[in-house]
Amino acid sequence: MSVLIKGGTLVTDTQTMQSDLLCEEEKIVAIAPSLEAPSGATVIDASGQYVMPGGIDPHTHMQLPFMGTVAIEDFYSGTAAGLAGGTTSIIDFVIPEAGTSLLENYHTWRGWAEKSAADYSFHVAVTWWDDSVYEDMGTLVRDHGVNSFKHFMAYKGAMMATDEILVSSFERCIELGAIPTVHAENGDLVYHLQQKLVAMGITGPEGHPLSRPPEVEAEAANRAIRIAETLGAPIYIVHVSTREALEAITRARTNGQRVFGECLPGHLLFDDSVYLNPDWEQAAGHVMSPPFRPKDNQRALWKGLQSGNLQTTATDHCAFCNEQKTMGHNNFTLIPNGTAGIEERMSVMWQEGVGTGRITMNEFVAITSSNAARIFNIYPKKGCLAVGSDADIVVWDPEGSRTISAKTHHSKVDFNIFEGMTVKGVPSHTLSRGRIFYKEGELLAEEGYGNYIDRPPYASYYDALQKIAGSREPKPIARQ
Ligand code: URP
Ligand code: ZN
Ligand code: ZN
Repeated sequence: MSVLIKGGTLVTDTQTMQSDLLCEEEKIVAIAPSLEAPSGATVIDASGQYVMPGGIDPHTHMQLPFMGTVAIEDFYSGTAAGLAGGTTSIIDFVIPEAGTSLLENYHTWRGWAEKSAADYSFHVAVTWWDDSVYEDMGTLVRDHGVNSFKHFMAYKGAMMATDEILVSSFERCIELGAIPTVHAENGDLVYHLQQKLVAMGITGPEGHPLSRPPEVEAEAANRAIRIAETLGAPIYIVHVSTREALEAITRARTNGQRVFGECLPGHLLFDDSVYLNPDWEQAAGHVMSPPFRPKDNQRALWKGLQSGNLQTTATDHCAFCNEQKTMGHNNFTLIPNGTAGIEERMSVMWQEGVGTGRITMNEFVAITSSNAARIFNIYPKKGCLAVGSDADIVVWDPEGSRTISAKTHHSKVDFNIFEGMTVKGVPSHTLSRGRIFYKEGELLAEEGYGNYIDRPPYASYYDALQKIAGSREPKPIARQ
């Protein structure tokens, strides 16, 4: 099957050029100013449009069991909604309950993800520690294409990783050539503030940001970065939402440390006044962690993207319906944390980034696709328009527009934090590995089309040791 994209302007993270692009089977096979359509090829007229790598969302939670319920989006509905918005790959999270096998959980999540409409991969969370976790991390890297491990510094009593776990796991990541990632919030502080606020009678959604002030994120980001610095590990900080956390990243990067930062469109656009909405459903619908932040943090985050100190945008797509949110009707600490956005990320970032002149089109490609591919080691298979790359492509209509609404979006969730926003700049076509799955308003997603993306490790200390000494794998350091 061939698809010729004709007459468009190709935009990558490094160049902009007028060119045609031919896809055959699953790959890009030719890029040249004037290509003939092979017989039987589908031709997309891209004149007046931009042809870009499909979006990569490096942070989603499809059907995540969390806070006493399960996120409503499954791997099919979530990836299909992504295709409607120009996103062609996701990296989701395997989150084992403490005490359970990383490997078994990985296989459970792989089973759930088989229905994906677009390609997917997994970060695996380290929520506890013993020798089996150490061993499983090795197996996941060597045999299962995992090169990143997640650490939740928040959610005390559930998946929170203590400093001891961070140290053990970061060290193991270095041995394996994997990258540790962190949700940076001090879980002990959050827990303490939650108890205090509830005891004071503050039980509504307005308590959520009060229990997780910016200092809580700044402390954890600093701590994770310093632990990584001490051990010599790279580190990726997910959903950076505050000026202070960004400053910690910027400082470390200036000192030559390999630190990466991700941010979300919601944190770039909204401030914490959303939690004061007298309509409980509206306020609770915005409950996610870290929360939306006081004014000025948004400006700081845009500067983080402009300066390159933040490299990626994600959605943290973790969708709960209004009904699910009511679990915390009398106590904000029980409102399932999470918001959606996989379908909106590209358009919102285009309009608010490129449309306002804050970022260039090439920077747009970098922060929605190529940088994630580079950091998580799948470039140039993904995040790239080059001969031999997967034909994951979005044809972008800069003049097209859509008004975002929960009534019309493709996601299963009945709430949208971008409700009513009209965005200019939308996909006209989305191709996943050479097949068109979104075409001028029509979603043609196919359950099960998505492939698992193997992500090889980076240069590995373990490999180096083996080369030098022919040594066996290092043993975990014994705990007292
Ligand atoms: O509120 C959020 N972000 N829910 C999903 C889990 C996480 O912290 O990423
Ligand atoms: Zn998180
Ligand atoms: Zn998350």
